Amino acid sequence: MNIKKYIIKKIRKILNTINIKKKYNYKICNNNKFSDYQINGIIEISKKEKIKINLLFKIIKKKLIKKKIFDKIKIINPGFINIFLNKQYIENIINIISKKKNFNIKSKKKKKILIDYSSPNVVKQMHIGNLRSTILGDCISNILNFLGNKIIKINHIGDWGTQFGIIITWIKKFKLKNKINNLKIIEKIYKLSYKKYKNNKKFAKKSRKNVVYLQKNKKDIIKIWKKIVKITTKENQKIYNYLNINLKIKNNMGESFYNNMLFKIIKDLLKKKIAIKNKKSVIIFSKKNFPLIIQKKDKAFLYSTTDIASIKYRYKKFKINKIIYFTDYRQKEYFKLIFYICKKAKYIPKNFSIKNYYFGLILNKKGKPIKSRKGNNLTIKKIIKLIYKKSKKLITKKNIYNKQKINRITKKITISAIKYMELSKNRKTNYIFDIKKILCLNSNTGPYIQYSYTRIISILRKNKTNTTKSIKNNKFYISSELEYKISKKILDFEETIIYTSKKCKPHIICKYLYTISSLFSKYYEKENISNIKNKKIKKSKLKLISIIAKILRIGLSILGIPILYNI
Ligand code: ARG
Repeated sequence: MNIKKYIIKKIRKILNTINIKKKYNYKICNNNKFSDYQINGIIEISKKEKIKINLLFKIIKKKLIKKKIFDKIKIINPGFINIFLNKQYIENIINIISKKKNFNIKSKKKKKILIDYSSPNVVKQMHIGNLRSTILGDCISNILNFLGNKIIKINHIGDWGTQFGIIITWIKKFKLKNKINNLKIIEKIYKLSYKKYKNNKKFAKKSRKNVVYLQKNKKDIIKIWKKIVKITTKENQKIYNYLNINLKIKNNMGESFYNNMLFKIIKDLLKKKIAIKNKKSVIIFSKKNFPLIIQKKDKAFLYSTTDIASIKYRYKKFKINKIIYFTDYRQKEYFKLIFYICKKAKYIPKNFSIKNYYFGLILNKKGKPIKSRKGNNLTIKKIIKLIYKKSKKLITKKNIYNKQKINRITKKITISAIKYMELSKNRKTNYIFDIKKILCLNSNTGPYIQYSYTRIISILRKNKTNTTKSIKNNKFYISSELEYKISKKILDFEETIIYTSKKCKPHIICKYLYTISSLFSKYYEKENISNIKNKKIKKSKLKLISIIAKILRIGLSILGIPILYNI
């Protein structure tokens, strides 16, 4: 249940009865020191509608207090309303909703949403620069799916364009066709050829020519290209599988897919006078933005041409309500322009929802971006290895598990540490990559949340029950301040999920899971549930922690993090 929304609705209704139809922006805050919820902004309504504030308060109070959910309504001068919830009512709601599948949380309007994420460039191993799009995109796809939307996932891999011209020129020059058998070699060759491309005009010219040949489907070139793409995607798939990222080869619909549509797009944009010819190249000028080249003078198409084509294709083919992207903020303006062009060309309707949820960079300890092309290439594989090694050390130290278990747990902790590092940060800001912090067991980390879940499960086991049983059979009632606090937090779960999905900011749900885990931790210190003699009390408490466990399980599954179960 979303109490804030409930209060907003009720107040709107009350205002309606006295003929105030305008949707005012009053605020509902929770966890206020003096009450459960506080309503702000009533003064503004009274001023604008020219109704005396005291009269307005009286009307609101009189009607609100009739609702069973509220225990007390207090008017605080100069302009707040403090709301106190009714304990029995809260108990009741918790007893009812906890039994429902996913606490009955779902979107009202279900949509078909296409998510463009991960999308690494071929010829390279996946590196730290691909981490954010991959993990954020996957989490948002989980949460939108959880809410009942239909999701189409697209991995728009960079499998076309200049980098192929460069590497293929080198491969042909040194007859390396049969040597390119793994991604490491491909990457090495790419680095060498890229250097040459930068320093040697003749080589650069040839490379550009080979891009055109590739785009014209020249046979021998396509053959090498295919091999490179196959090897790269196979290697990337291993990373996705390891990290529990829900992308499969079938989600690959890279830049190359749109190749045969590009010529038509150029023609159409010229015809519609959106693009113009400029010294043999084709450019789009717009007042608000930078000029965008969509065809070079040597006739090669670009990243931008592909993106325009892909939007047109996706809209028509999948009949979607929405498209969302996850790329870093450096592509923010670029996408704005692309969306604008597509709307102007009527490839998508004017009011179509299309958005790039851009994110910041991951920095090194000096606060500088961790670059991939220059020297130090921090691959995702390397990151996994680093964290795996560290967590294994930590777990082995505990000395309670056998070898097999250690490996299993280590893997789960590694996935959790990496994903939570990303998901717990505000999407829009940069953050510093710090391995020490992400493995900590008593702060806002993935392993901490996993650990809280495991602790609850072991209490339940000790008492010969499990989450399903105790939620179904026991009755919960609030018997302390702390239980009241936890109950309110439980009621916030729905709002947290909805808000996370609206903003596409998983750190909101991470913070929530951390808070509820910390509340459980406090509860655990205070209550020795296993030793309680009174059956009714014990059952109620077992139910409360089972509900927390259910929340953590749903939360972790939305984050794409495995639970530590059988330990
Ligand atoms: N491959 C691009 C990169 O690594 C990201 C692609 C994002 N998606 C898109 N449709 N342009 O920067």
